[in-house]
Amino acid sequence: MILSTIRWLLRELPGLKRTLFLGAAASLVGSAFAVAAPLALRAAIDRMTGGGLDGAAMLKALAALAAVIALLALGEGVFRFSARWLLVSQARIQEHAVRERMVRRLLGLPLSFFHRSPSGDLMARLTNDPSSLQHLIGVGMLGLSNTVLVFAMSVAMMAVLSPSLALMVLVPFPFIAVMINRVGKSVYARFRAVQDHYGVLTDRVQENLSGIRVVKAMVRERAEEEEFAALSREYMRRSLLLTRAQAAVIPGIGLLAGLGLGMILYVGGRMVISGSLTLGTFVAFNAYLAMLVWPAVSLGWVLNLVQRAAVSLERIREVEAEAAEETDEGGEPFRQGDIDVSHLTFAYPGAASCALSDVTLSIPAGKTIGLVGPTGSGKTTFVRLILRLYDVPAGSIRVGKTDLGRISRSSLRAEAAVVSQEPFLYSDTLAANISFGREDAGPEEIEEAALLAGLKPDLETFPKGLETVVGERGVTLSGGQRQRAALARALVRRPRLLILDDPFSALDAETEEAILARLREEVGRLKTPGNGGENGTTVILVAHRVSAVRACDWICVFDGGTIAARGTHEELLGRDGFYRDMARRQQIEENLGIRD
Ligand SMILES: Nc1ncnc2c1ncn2[C@@H]1O[C@H](COP(=O)(O)OP(=O)(O)OP(=O)(O)O)[C@@H](O)[C@H]1O
Ligand SMILES: [Mg+2]
Repeated sequence: MILSTIRWLLRELPGLKRTLFLGAAASLVGSAFAVAAPLALRAAIDRMTGGGLDGAAMLKALAALAAVIALLALGEGVFRFSARWLLVSQARIQEHAVRERMVRRLLGLPLSFFHRSPSGDLMARLTNDPSSLQHLIGVGMLGLSNTVLVFAMSVAMMAVLSPSLALMVLVPFPFIAVMINRVGKSVYARFRAVQDHYGVLTDRVQENLSGIRVVKAMVRERAEEEEFAALSREYMRRSLLLTRAQAAVIPGIGLLAGLGLGMILYVGGRMVISGSLTLGTFVAFNAYLAMLVWPAVSLGWVLNLVQRAAVSLERIREVEAEAAEETDEGGEPFRQGDIDVSHLTFAYPGAASCALSDVTLSIPAGKTIGLVGPTGSGKTTFVRLILRLYDVPAGSIRVGKTDLGRISRSSLRAEAAVVSQEPFLYSDTLAANISFGREDAGPEEIEEAALLAGLKPDLETFPKGLETVVGERGVTLSGGQRQRAALARALVRRPRLLILDDPFSALDAETEEAILARLREEVGRLKTPGNGGENGTTVILVAHRVSAVRACDWICVFDGGTIAARGTHEELLGRDGFYRDMARRQQIEENLGIRD
């Protein structure tokens, strides 16, 4: 797992290999300086205790050796600084690269992925997980190279100084290795548990904050607070488990190292007394031993970072393994034509029943068709499929002569505009929201679209008109204003296919009728020669009011995922069924004056 993590990093992150190499080289030189210092110490002590030098000569030798030690320390410092700077800055660069790459992949994923992935979880994967890769590449790699190099060099020096003592030093290390391996496994499992739960937690916060109006309206503050506290407690519990696993490592290694030190003191001390080891060598040996302890401790810590990074990488790769919407290469451009739907059956991924079954329908180019039907009958699903937000079996939807699956998504979505049931606005100015799909739209075009969408009277009440900032998700607008802003955003693109999914649910019937009447005129004007545009824009209008669809060329009544009836307004009124019932009910409501 660790090796595969490192292999992935080296393979996927360009530039990393080179920096790691340079960093390790700097770290090697720094470690060599560090490892040389005890030799100078040994020379100094042996000079002082060996006799044969007078006081002045001894002092001179001592001064020279002290200067050597200081220079070695300086050299060590310079190279260790370079290694740290190289690796830590590289880590930041790669963190950014990983995040950017994830965002790019995420944006390329199909809508179905977002329907099943909680956004809090995605947020955690975008923020925390690249950070733990960054920790591994920076301080982790630095620690690892220092650890391995200092360890290898110290052991080598000890073997040179006294092979028998060196063998003894190595006795505790197999135990340390076993312990680190054990702990490593539990750190991995527990860190995964912590990261996954963090996703749940952020998701809850995010939902609550964006749905704060509902929370307040339902007086759910206390209940939400308690639920959140429970989630947060669970996060704490998992983090504590992780901490406990990690906390054992460093003291454990320290203990084993301390035992080793005691043993060496006793055995080595006896060798000095018996004269088989000089005092200088013994002191130098102990200095190397002290150098070993830190790498052993830091190894535990580095392995912990590696385990975390392995978890994060797994989570990142889960996102990357998602199949992107296939590319548009080889796709045909969208050309205005009749939309023919034949025997279309569709179920959402993982759903038990079909959202649409055996729908057959033809929408002539340039016509306006209305879709009505009870809630949940499949109207939104139908328009999603026309937009290729989900894939449908070949042959079930054709535009002109071309199968929908062969039309490039980008061209389809460039030519089609949709106003969805729950329009989403960005926290930007109204003008920016309206020109969102067409950055080149000039101020007059934006103004015209706003006028057409019936936003004019509202604009006069806004302090800055079109330059008013609408707040996150458009919270400072009324539902109806938001819907009309979304309509303006669709119109400014001058689409060949306009899909209106119940766009006026928040408007009163009169305003709805006025906007639709203006829209009908405009749609007639949108005819552009060439590319099938002489037919004008095709409009699919989903609505819940008879008054909205009355003027459509053709009306379909959806029921339980099938088309229950179709015809013009007059034809449908002449038949028993949902449409006539709906018309009667709305007529009565109107007569009673209770229509909204
Ligand atoms: N993303 C989804 N995943 C799974 N099932 C879905 C999804 N969206 C809708 N459905 C289901 O598909 C069926 C049709 O829903 P759809 O949204 O198309 O209805 P609708 O006619 O637009 O209703 P309304 O008038 O309330 O907007 C419903 O049973 C709904 O629960
Ligand atoms: Mg719907």
